[in-house]
Order: sequence, then C-alpha cells, then structure tokens
Amino acid sequence: MNSADRVTAQNNLPNYQTILVCAEAFNPDDDEDDDEDAEPKIIYPKADEQRIRLQETCKDILLFKNLDTEQMSQVLDAMFERLVSPGEHVIDQDDDGDNFYVIERGTYDISVKVDGIDCCIGTYNNHGSFGELALMYNTPRAATIIATSPGALWGLGDSADSFYIVESGEVKITMRRTKSQLNVEENGAVEIARCTRGQYFGELALVTNKPRAASAYAVGNVKCLVMDVQAFERLLGPCMDIMKRNIVNYEEQLVELFGTNMDISDPTA
Ligand code: CMP
Repeated sequence: MNSADRVTAQNNLPNYQTILVCAEAFNPDDDEDDDEDAEPKIIYPKADEQRIRLQETCKDILLFKNLDTEQMSQVLDAMFERLVSPGEHVIDQDDDGDNFYVIERGTYDISVKVDGIDCCIGTYNNHGSFGELALMYNTPRAATIIATSPGALWGLGDSADSFYIVESGEVKITMRRTKSQLNVEENGAVEIARCTRGQYFGELALVTNKPRAASAYAVGNVKCLVMDVQAFERLLGPCMDIMKRNIVNYEEQLVELFGTNMDISDPTA
C-alpha cells in the first residue's frame, strides 16, 4: 500500500491495494461455511414512517425500475438516511466513489471544474438521484454536489466489510466536517488519529452497523492484516464489548475536536 492510498473511506467500503497477509484456513470439503460465504445482507433498521418516505422517494428512480419486489425490498433495507445542511459537499469531484444518493428533499448544485475553476452546470430540485457514475464505471467522482438548502438524502451500497490491524507503517485517520461546523468556505477533512504497528482501525462500522465514519490513508508504505466481517465477528466476537466501550473514547475526542460526537455510535446499543 502506498502513500495516500485510501484504506477505508468515510461512508465507504475499505478499498485499494490493501495487502492480505493472513487468512483463515479454508477447507473446500467443509460445507458448513456455505451460508457464511453468501454476501451478507445490509440492513439499516428504519421506522415505518421512514420506510414509507423512502418508498415514495424511490418510486420514480430510473435505476430501480427493473428491480423485482424482493430486490427492491433489499435495496430499501440497505439504504440509510443522510441529512445535509446548506453548503455541505455531498460529493467532491475526483474523490473515490462510495455511495449512490436518492434525493428526498432539498436543492443541490452540480459543479464541474473547467480549467481548474468550479463551474455550476446544473441543479437538482427536490427530486432525482446522483453519484452512480463513479460506482458504475469505477472512476473518480465526475462532479461536485453541494447542498444549497437543508436536505434529506438516502444513500445506498457500499458497506463496511473489513477490519484492519497495522503490521507496519502508519495509517492516518481523517474525518470530514460538515459545512455547519466550519467557519470557512471549504469542506476540509481533519486528521483525528494515527495508527501504527499493532493498532487497529475499521471496527467502528462493523460494530455499529453504520456507514464508515472516517477515512483511513496510508502514510508512506503500510502493511495491514485484513479480516473480513465474518471472520471479525467469529474471531473477535469476545472482544466486542471492549471495542464498544472504546467508542465512548472516540466520542469524547470528537466532542473535543468538533463540539459534537458526530453521531457515530450505535443507535440500537
Ligand atoms: P459521480 O461521478 O459518481 O458523482 C458525481 C455525480 O454528479 C455523478 O456521478 C452524476 O450522478 C452527477 N452528475 C450530474 N450531472 C453531471 C454531469 N454533467 N457530469 C458528471 N456528473 C454529473
């Protein structure tokens, strides 16, 4: 993994050039694990009222038109609500793709860099969807999307599926502030921690069943041990309470940095 490679992305799947240096033993004759090999279903629990709003929001989305009832239900299960404030960057051009978004309400500017200058090329007005291109074509984000009013979005897809232990090198953890927490006209990311040999990251989303709360970047060359979510639950299940307790430390640190705990903890815990 090289400098600036992103290991996990905020609200995103861990990705890119992570080096798998350990694995559980695999026995092809052992069919007990068959169920575990199936893609885990992603479910963000929703109140009835939320699900009704979500259904209404998604009913005219072109990308969902060909899904059968069962598939549509799985998609609705996997979507999570994201509230945004005016000025908040939902997507930044050239970032890696993470989520696809469906608009429940709010207005959004679409901006593209022309000769290095941001030009507003269109708007979304209380309906529609965006963010599909980077995911469909595995390309960087083609445009920047900025909320121009308070808004509500439903995000889909990428789910957290791995846990990491640093074997060598250094990993920088950053968190993007929302516009409402900024005094300046930018949407910068703030470094909140560094992980070195023996330290872990990527557990929070697996423990809380929420989207990734932060991004992780290799600082120079890094080697990580990677554990998929099934192995994480099976092997580290006994450590779950310790990890959950540690979330309180994260929250205290975030309150100190941002004046809010960034809503990272498990709503069901
Ligand atoms: P993506 O590239 O994943 O992230 C930015 C999104 O902006 C893009 O997907 C589209 O969904 C949306 N978008 C809207 N208009 C344009 C445009 N003219 N060019 C590129 N992206 C656009």
